[in-house]
Amino acid sequence: MVDQEKILVSVAWPYANGSIHLGQAIGAYLPADIFARFHRMKGNAVLMVSGSDAHGTPVVLEAEKQKTTPEKIFQLYHNEFLENWKQLGISWDLFTSTHTKIHEEVVQDIFLKLLENGFIYKDVMTLPYSEKDKRFLADRYVEGTCPHCNFESARGDQCDNCGSTLDPIELINIKSRISGDAPVFKETEHFFLALTKFEKQLYSWIEKNKYWKPNVRNFSLKFLEGGLKDRAITRDIEWGVPVPLDGYEDKRIYVWFDAVIGYLSASIEWSSQIGDKSKWEDFWKGDGKSYYFMGKDNIPFHTIIWPSMLIGYGDMNLPYDVPANEYLNLEGLKFSTSRGWAIWLGEYLSKFEPDPLRYVLSANMPEIRDTDFSWDEYIRRNNDELVATYGNLVHRVLSLSYRSFDKKIPECGELSESGENLLKLATNSMEKVSEELTNCRFKSALTVAMGLAQAANKFLNDEEPWHKLKSTDVEDQRDAATTLWVVLSVVNCLKILLYPFLPFSSEKLHKLLGFEDSVTDVGWNWSANQITSGTSLPKPKVLFVKIEREDLDT
Ligand code: MF3
Ligand code: ZN
Repeated sequence: MVDQEKILVSVAWPYANGSIHLGQAIGAYLPADIFARFHRMKGNAVLMVSGSDAHGTPVVLEAEKQKTTPEKIFQLYHNEFLENWKQLGISWDLFTSTHTKIHEEVVQDIFLKLLENGFIYKDVMTLPYSEKDKRFLADRYVEGTCPHCNFESARGDQCDNCGSTLDPIELINIKSRISGDAPVFKETEHFFLALTKFEKQLYSWIEKNKYWKPNVRNFSLKFLEGGLKDRAITRDIEWGVPVPLDGYEDKRIYVWFDAVIGYLSASIEWSSQIGDKSKWEDFWKGDGKSYYFMGKDNIPFHTIIWPSMLIGYGDMNLPYDVPANEYLNLEGLKFSTSRGWAIWLGEYLSKFEPDPLRYVLSANMPEIRDTDFSWDEYIRRNNDELVATYGNLVHRVLSLSYRSFDKKIPECGELSESGENLLKLATNSMEKVSEELTNCRFKSALTVAMGLAQAANKFLNDEEPWHKLKSTDVEDQRDAATTLWVVLSVVNCLKILLYPFLPFSSEKLHKLLGFEDSVTDVGWNWSANQITSGTSLPKPKVLFVKIEREDLDT
């Protein structure tokens, strides 16, 4: 294919220290999957990667809490994530982890290259040391008040409330999370990433990326305007990627430095898995475009730190777009793992279908501002939109055709003006949805697709083919057949438009329309004549079912 684009879909690596909740699902994984599926349908080359973020204090602290090893904790959650993805239909090319040999090699290679290029240097720093715990307290081992927003449980490296990256020394009322002890600050030697050297270049690069979401772009520019500080990229812990130099056996590379490199190491791992060792370069060099999906708390790591590392390493494409999302709240309150205020993805998927969740979350995606998830909203959107607008439309036309036209797709006679218009709307919707998805405007794409379903419902209700079907007049029969043909054709279009959002349902619908291959074989193209009159239809089955409040209390 001549004009095939190369699209790297990079998705934030979940910490392997806890289950994934719906907020994370819609923050990063679903938009990424919708985007990847769309581009594959378009015929573009897609590489979608991520993995478990296995290192750092998040995993160590959880292991201590559960009285086990970091390795075991990482494995436990890694397996859970793999199951989540399969059930939710997240179509990874590779979901690996940062705990692999290849990742360690790539991290150490980048570390040494940056050191050689003068972007990493060694220096003495003062770090919190607890006399009681007898150790330096890295990152999440300490907690305190954020100096920027006064959030009380900011961590040693980052404030989860305002997104600032922090140094422990900036925390107000710093405390050890092991003993509650107020640590003292002691000198120790560490490696630093010279972020200050990239400030100007980053600013003009982000300044030029006018197509970025305003929240992502403005946040990043403000971050730079505040001035960058060089950041320590090694830690006094035992779990993580070893520093590839003699004399640093007690230190490990900082989890964020290690994790962002995962995008690259996973791409390289994927290449070697498919037996085409340099294939990853298609996505990382030249005209390859990379998109990074994540929640807003991850923005600075992807627009400032990772790009700096890439510039310092040399000859690599910078992120093309970083369509980070805001937060999804739960019944008005922030999802909180520690307070148990969350709906776990695994728990949902063990009881209910994936597509209704994919639909409801997508319709509610926190693209521009925080949005809210509630079960009432879930039921409403499932029943009023998915079932009433889309599912019933599909079921009505398939059942009528099956019953009245000998289990076959009926003949198309002469089109009425409204029929022509509906088909034109379908053609336009293909273009519009494509444009919106290309620009990562997911909610708008979904609204356009559902708008076509509404228009098809209106057409069907206006034409009332069920009345004409009762008549013995040949003309009436022909009209009814044409109406059904038109709506079947539009349903065939909806199957493609909604495929990125509802992959399981689109695959089912493809079969219900009498096709024997996969919906993915069709690609992102539709013409009114794709369905063929006379094609046998299987017995219709419903795509979506109504949900009552009681169904949820299982
Ligand atoms: N593990 C981090 C989090 O859950 C995200 C890491 S994204 C990566 O917030 F790119 F750095 F891996
Ligand atoms: Zn803050």
